[in-house]
Amino acid sequence: KNIAVFASGNGSNFQALLDSVQNGRLEANIRILVCDRPSAFVLERAKAAGIDSFVFSPRKFGGKEEYENLICEKLAEANIDWIVLAGYMRLLGPVLLSAYEGRIVNIHPSLLPAYPGKDAIGQALAAGANRTGVTVHFVDEGMDTGPAITQVEVPILDGETHESLQTKIQKVEHRLYPEVLQMLLNTQGESENGTKAGINLR
Ligand code: GRF
Repeated sequence: KNIAVFASGNGSNFQALLDSVQNGRLEANIRILVCDRPSAFVLERAKAAGIDSFVFSPRKFGGKEEYENLICEKLAEANIDWIVLAGYMRLLGPVLLSAYEGRIVNIHPSLLPAYPGKDAIGQALAAGANRTGVTVHFVDEGMDTGPAITQVEVPILDGETHESLQTKIQKVEHRLYPEVLQMLLNTQGESENGTKAGINLR
């Protein structure tokens, strides 16, 4: 299966996916990186790995529909089956959502529906929570609102800082995302035949 990764920033999750393909834990082709920020470090990672990227500046377009149509063309050229959001800081619009219905996933650093949106780690700390975690979910038109596929809890300890919590969460993300994607790719054939996908990782 062919995957497009969408990212806006550092790209450590993109890197984890690349590494998992390399070491055989994720049997997929990462065909293209889609990035909405020309200065994002994730572009360097794609370049170093020899992965094509499509970079665009949203402000230079008339609107979401216009740039999503262009993205759709790029994805069609690359025969993309799945869209994987990895720190893509934008909501998807109807163009992409309808073209890839049921085949778009996101990873978010909280136990959704708690702490959606930006800085979920800061939100959890500000709330004085003693646990947070990571959610992988299907994407819909809302902000971090689609059906959850799997969640992993991460404890928040006394004296936890933003940095220490982020390190723990990212470690979980980098293991979990390739694992969940592999499971989705394995079960996809079944679900196409009308059998319920066995989404039950832990
Ligand atoms: C991750 O924490 C992910 O859960 C969230 O954005 C962050 C991206 O980090 N959606 P990176 O760019 O993959 O390092």
